[in-house]
Amino acid sequence: MFKQVLRLPLWLGELVTGSKSFEANPLIGSRRLNRCGLHVARVTLAHGIMRLRMAMLGWGVAREDRRQFIRQGFLMKTNFLPEEDYQALVKEVSEAKGEVRQCCQGDAQMRRMLLSPHTLASMPRTRALLRDPAFRRLMRYCAGHLRMPICHAERVMNGVSDAPEDPQKRLHVDTFQPTMKFWLYLEEVSEVNGPFVYVPGSNRLSRQRLAWEYAMSQQARQHADRYTARGSFRVEPEQAAAMGEAPPRQFKVPGNTLLIANTFGVHARGKAEPGSSRLALWGMSRTNPFIPLPGLGFESLNRLQYRVLEHQRRQDDKRAAARGVKASWHRIEEGL
Ligand SMILES: [Fe+2]
Repeated sequence: MFKQVLRLPLWLGELVTGSKSFEANPLIGSRRLNRCGLHVARVTLAHGIMRLRMAMLGWGVAREDRRQFIRQGFLMKTNFLPEEDYQALVKEVSEAKGEVRQCCQGDAQMRRMLLSPHTLASMPRTRALLRDPAFRRLMRYCAGHLRMPICHAERVMNGVSDAPEDPQKRLHVDTFQPTMKFWLYLEEVSEVNGPFVYVPGSNRLSRQRLAWEYAMSQQARQHADRYTARGSFRVEPEQAAAMGEAPPRQFKVPGNTLLIANTFGVHARGKAEPGSSRLALWGMSRTNPFIPLPGLGFESLNRLQYRVLEHQRRQDDKRAAARGVKASWHRIEEGL
């Protein structure tokens, strides 16, 4: 009890951050507070503030792109780079020598190379893309923040073990707040290697969505699904259909397609054949949803976020080593 009193200020403070775990924070998970509307209030406020921030960052982004992202929750651009630049980018990423880390989720493995300024020093094509002003405007608008998303080169490997199915292959939402993720596919994505699945329009705060959030908020803390208990609600197909356009869209796309999605919308990693994989540049931005200003875009802050992540990874390595295990994102010798 005394411990709980000591932790109360921390739990209270987390209410005005992106903290999402119903399991870890008894206030976020409180059935009584959520019956009074705590979760729904956080969802609604986060959305209102995100729309405000996006409105501030719309300059230089085509009107159709802005409308598409707000109405449908995703933006797709095929043939994103000139063919010659695209081929050079694929070669550069495939041969890159940066630190690669791996994480297992169910029977899938993700390999990621953090595209930190240090790694980008020897990747001129990738660096040029991530610094391209039009690309940056698009990223910043969809993220509702001036700070660029944290970017990786990523390979998702499907069905590599006998473990239960990859949990990200079930329809779900990432969190209670609008979150931007992007993929620039560096090879074709088909039903073989797992197309991204998204329910168009499920990013919107409809009456059905709010009612579902309200109902979920009262059962999430005790929910049998641990991802739901941690605030990333799994969604049944019939619920998904009520929140957006059915059936969910599968993004079977050629390489050189840029896909940006608001993963507050209902989505999944599509089914794939065991042994298949796909390579992409991948990035995400999730910032404090309760600050009504879109942050600062200084390059020094962009560099800092990579240093912070690298530091966290090293700390995770040390903690895991002390327990005689590997960190969930552990270093591997192989490349991507
Ligand atoms: Fe997700």
